[in-house]
Order: sequence, then structure tokens, then C-alpha cells
Amino acid sequence: MSLKPLALFVTHDGQSSRSAITCEYKCGNACFHEVPNTSDGEYFGDIVARLNRRGLIKGGAAAVLAVGAASMLAACGDDSSDTGSTGSPGTGTGFTPVAPNKEDAVVVPEGYEQSVLIRWGDAVIEGAPAFDFEKQTPAAAAQQFGYNCDFAGLLPIEGEADKYVLVVSHEYSTEPMMFRGYNKDAPTREQFEIALASHGLSVVEVHGQAGSGQLKPVFGKYNRRITATTEFEVRGPAAGSALLKTKADPTGTKVLGTLNNCSGGVTPWGTVLSGEENFNQYFGNAEKVTDADVAKKLKRYGIEGGASERRWENFDPRFDLTQEVNEVNRFGYVVEVNPWDASSAPVKHTALGRFKHEAATIHVTADGSVVAYSGDDERFDYMYKFVSAKKVQPGVGASSMRHNMTILDEGTLYVAKLTGDHAAEIDGSGKVPTGGFTGKGEWIRLLETGADGKGKSFVDGMSAEEVAVFTRLAGDKVGATKMDRPEDFETNPKTGKVYVALTNNTKRGEEGKPGPDEANPRKLNKNGQVLELTDNHTGTEFTWTLLLVCGDPAAADTYFSGFDKSKVSPISCPDNLAFDPYGNLWISTDGNALKSNDGLFAVVLDGPNRGETKQFLTVPRGGETCGPIITEKQVIVSVQHPGESDDATVDKPLSNWPDGGTTQPRPSVAVVWKKNGGRIGV
Ligand code: FEO
Ligand code: CA
Ligand code: CA
Ligand code: CA
Repeated sequence: MSLKPLALFVTHDGQSSRSAITCEYKCGNACFHEVPNTSDGEYFGDIVARLNRRGLIKGGAAAVLAVGAASMLAACGDDSSDTGSTGSPGTGTGFTPVAPNKEDAVVVPEGYEQSVLIRWGDAVIEGAPAFDFEKQTPAAAAQQFGYNCDFAGLLPIEGEADKYVLVVSHEYSTEPMMFRGYNKDAPTREQFEIALASHGLSVVEVHGQAGSGQLKPVFGKYNRRITATTEFEVRGPAAGSALLKTKADPTGTKVLGTLNNCSGGVTPWGTVLSGEENFNQYFGNAEKVTDADVAKKLKRYGIEGGASERRWENFDPRFDLTQEVNEVNRFGYVVEVNPWDASSAPVKHTALGRFKHEAATIHVTADGSVVAYSGDDERFDYMYKFVSAKKVQPGVGASSMRHNMTILDEGTLYVAKLTGDHAAEIDGSGKVPTGGFTGKGEWIRLLETGADGKGKSFVDGMSAEEVAVFTRLAGDKVGATKMDRPEDFETNPKTGKVYVALTNNTKRGEEGKPGPDEANPRKLNKNGQVLELTDNHTGTEFTWTLLLVCGDPAAADTYFSGFDKSKVSPISCPDNLAFDPYGNLWISTDGNALKSNDGLFAVVLDGPNRGETKQFLTVPRGGETCGPIITEKQVIVSVQHPGESDDATVDKPLSNWPDGGTTQPRPSVAVVWKKNGGRIGV
């Protein structure tokens, strides 16, 4: 393949390849704003001393592991989660790696085929108008596949061979790419309403195709669009709180819509969780809020300044902080969707706290307790977990579903504190300390929610409702560890170990900012790292190690768990994680700082090849790889923001994927399969 020397990689924050337009619309220019976390964190040395005093640091403390998730998935009929094939070390990564490139295509290994499963504007609801880029309407958008697909979850339909429900989130709208002649200073009401309808999630039935791994969408009874105006039910300790009451909803229990749904997770009971991430950017006029305490809390969530990027406050007062200061408190949660009932109200779970949730992913222990892990994707923010009080009920019947959909209402929320084993050896260069990057950790209790829905705070000076709504401030108070942008978590169904993508943090070690530590070992970290936790899932202690310190393998500051660096693919900015049926970790990237298109990588975790990293695919120009699903027969990715670049316009698109010719780029879900119909990577 020829590598075209395109000027694609406009630098973002002076480091990664993300374009300014992506920064502006995806995360509200989070990297250009002051870091919201200015709290005084505890230093590692102090924590080590304190844990030692409590006798918590001992060599070789065995973590109790349970791997109930795989069996729960099996109980739900998910034959993709565990085929029973354990394979030899490296099974599932048997493909020729794709080289870094700048193609305007989904580039897959030799011997694989692909197609677009569903595109922005394709009908989700039967009867939806055909997509016409030049004639979009709010009513059409509310029935079509939304913009900027991110998370993808595939749920088998019970008793129906090779039929599934695909649930996809639509993180954000990019108005200058969606509308010809868009005027960012004066958007129209119609553009505002189309943008509302283009957010949220899509639920689409998909069917396998005989003789290949291809999947095609159909109109079925589950098909549904959830948008920024769909009614949600609020649950947990903040439901009905004064902090959530608005003029339109004096009960504080019903919210219209979900925003900036980034990644998520499929629960073993057959629902989908989705993280409301950069919700801050949709609210205008923070600078006019006069209450100093409210302004301080807004600022901790990155909410400041005048007009919002999209000017939604021009059309609906709930987006204007001077008219409705509490509406913003109703976003930033983990939401749960029951895809099996298209009329069910989705839920916002306040017991899991409010922050820029990248996602939430579930692990079920052997006794049926549910653990939900979630990262707060902001530079120097925290990692959390929620442990349920109730046990999951097996099966997918109506009564099990009713019970299981209340599991995230009752339990305990924790935030993570990490210590390094070799603090003295960490100098910010990324130099590997003796024995690798390793350490211990503690989960600090923040909030317990009881059977009556009432919370109990464990944070001095904060009520339970405040901990649920201003969770970042609770984390500050207990001295949680400031991480390099925690994104997706994923638990290995084979071993129970938990993996966390830490995407990057170019402010680490800057003057006045927190310096490197063993879990975040590089100054001005532009390529990110992947953390492996050995967690006593329901307990409060864990150990950790860094699996990967990402970047150009030829660079001294990268680390692949000791695997030969001359034999790995370059990888930068890990974002979403997924497991294949053999226990290999798959990582999709966002904002590759190595001058290539973003990609999807398979990483061997166990055996002599631990750390071996191979690129399976790359996405088209300007795009981000999201939502990976790895089944025995398919690799499914969301291609988010293809063609998004500061040089691109509707009249001069950077990408014409997926329709080719001179068409506009369309965020789409793609499916890849092996030509002979065989197993992926085998
Ligand atoms: Fe939407 Fe943290 O990526
Ligand atoms: Ca993400
Ligand atoms: Ca994931
Ligand atoms: Ca990201």
C-alpha cells in the first residue's frame, strides 16, 4: 500500500494527532482548559508509610480472584464470550499485523474482509426517511442512526441463531461537518434539534449472513433511538435531591436525554451501560453564575466561560446556567438501557457517582456480587469502582431482569489510591524500574447506598447527595491518585485481572502540575499506558503492574512487559479495551501521536509472549477507533469522526469514507471477518 504524505496530523495540545475541531466538539477543548483538578493529592511516600502502618503492604499477598462473569455471560446465552477453546499462548493473535498508514479506508490483515454495518443517517426505525445530507430534519434524525458512534455492544437474541441486538452510543455532534455552511456563531434551531436527535444511543437488530461473518441490520421490535430528549429515570441517592430539581422537573427524578455517551459495557443480565463523559461542554454562561460555591463546583467539572460551543442555551433555557443551574447536575452519570423493551425508560445511576464517565464495565464474582469499574477521563482524575450489595440473579427472564436492573442502586462506591514499589527509581523518563512498574493500591470508600435508596457519606464535610453529584470533590478530599486520563476498564473473563487504559497526559510533570509516579511514570505523557490490576473485586486492596507503556517501540520510554520491542506494532493513546474468546486484550486507540491513522491492536497477556502487541486494523483518515467487539467470527469497530480535521470542510472533505467518490464522511460501524469464514486470529 502506498503511504500518502498527507498533512493530516495537526497537533492537538502540541502533542497528539487529534485535530482542533475534534477537541472542540468531542470534549469541549478539555486539553486547552486549565486542568480542573487542583486539589492537593497525597504523595505516594505518605501513602506507603500509612499503608505500612496499617499492615496492608506485605509481599505476595494473594488476591482472591473469581471469574463469575464468564459463567454469567454463558447463562445469558452469549456464545461469543467463551467458546471453551483455551488455545495455546498466542491463540487468537495469528494474523499479519497491519502497518501504520494514512489510508482513507478500514485497512485489515491479509485474508480478512469487511463491510459497513450501519452508517450515520441509516434508518433505525422502519419508515425513517432515506438519509439526505443536504436535507436533514430533526424528525428524520430521531429515526436514523446518530452521529459519531462510539461504544458498541452485541447481545445475542435468545433462541435465535446468529441474530443479535447491536447497541451503539453516539458521543457527540460535529456541526461544521454535519451541515453545509454551518455558522458556529449563529446556529439555527433546526440544527440544534438535529444535534439533539443525533446524540444518545441506537438499538438495532442485526443478523448474521450464511457463509461469512458479515452482519446486516434489520427492522425488528427492539429497534429504538434514544436521544438527548428521551425521558430518563434517575435512581440512587441523588434521585429527588434538591441538587437535581429544576423548574421543568421539580421532582428531581426525570431527566430529558443523555449526552456525550462515550464507551460503555454490556451487563451479564443483558442490559447496556453507557458513560456520560464530556457533558460539561453543552452548558453556557458559567461565568455569570454568582454563587462562589456553585462556580467552584462547576469549575471542578470543567464548566466555565460564556457561550457554549454549540450555543444550545440560545434555544433551551435548561442549557443556560443562569436560568437553570441544576440541569448540569443531571448529566455525568452511568446510564443503563434495557434493549429488550423499546418502551422502557433508561436509567441514570447516581450511586455510581458523577464525573466524566468514560464507561462502566461489570465483573460478577463467584458469589454473584457485581462490581462496576469506571474511569474519569480527565487529566489527573480518578479511577472508581462500585460494589453491589445485592447478588445477580441468573437467567434473562422478566423477573431476573427486574431484579438485576436494581443491582446498581444499592452498594458502595470507592475511589482508587495507588502506591509504587520503586518510587525512588521513577524519574519521569519512563525508565523501567527493577522488576517492572509494580505497586499496591487501596479502594477508599466514598458512598454507601442502602436498600431504601438513601446514601451514607464517608467523606468529611459532604452529604451523601453531594458525594453522588460532586464525586470529583469527594475524590479530592480523600486524596485519590491522580491518573493519566483513565478511560476504559475491562476484566479478563479468564483470569479476573482488570485492565485500565490510561490514554495520555501531556501536563504530567509540567511546572505546577503533579509529577510522575510509578503508575503514571512519564513526564509530558503523550502516548499513554495500560494498567493491570489484580483486584480482590469486592474488597479494598489490590496490586498492580503496567502491562504496556505505549509509543514507538524504538523509543527508550516504551515498555511491552519485557516482550521483544523489535517485534511489536507501534501503539499510542489506548482508549477502549475488549477481550477476545481466548483471553487476549484488544485495544483501540484515540489520537495516535505516531503519525498514523488510529487502530485496533491485540495484546497477548499470558505465557512467554506476554506484551506482544499486533495491529489488526486501522480506521480511515481523521477517524478514531471505538467500540471494539471481538467474537469468534467477527471484529466490530465504530469508526468515529472520520475526516474530522481542521483543514477539512463540507466542500473539501478529508475523507470520503464509507461511500467513496466525493461523498461526505459518515461515522459508521464496520464489521470484519475472515474470508474463509474461520475464527478471528486463529
Ligand atoms: Fe470519549 Fe474518553 O473518550
Ligand atoms: Ca473513549
Ligand atoms: Ca470495553
Ligand atoms: Ca478518548
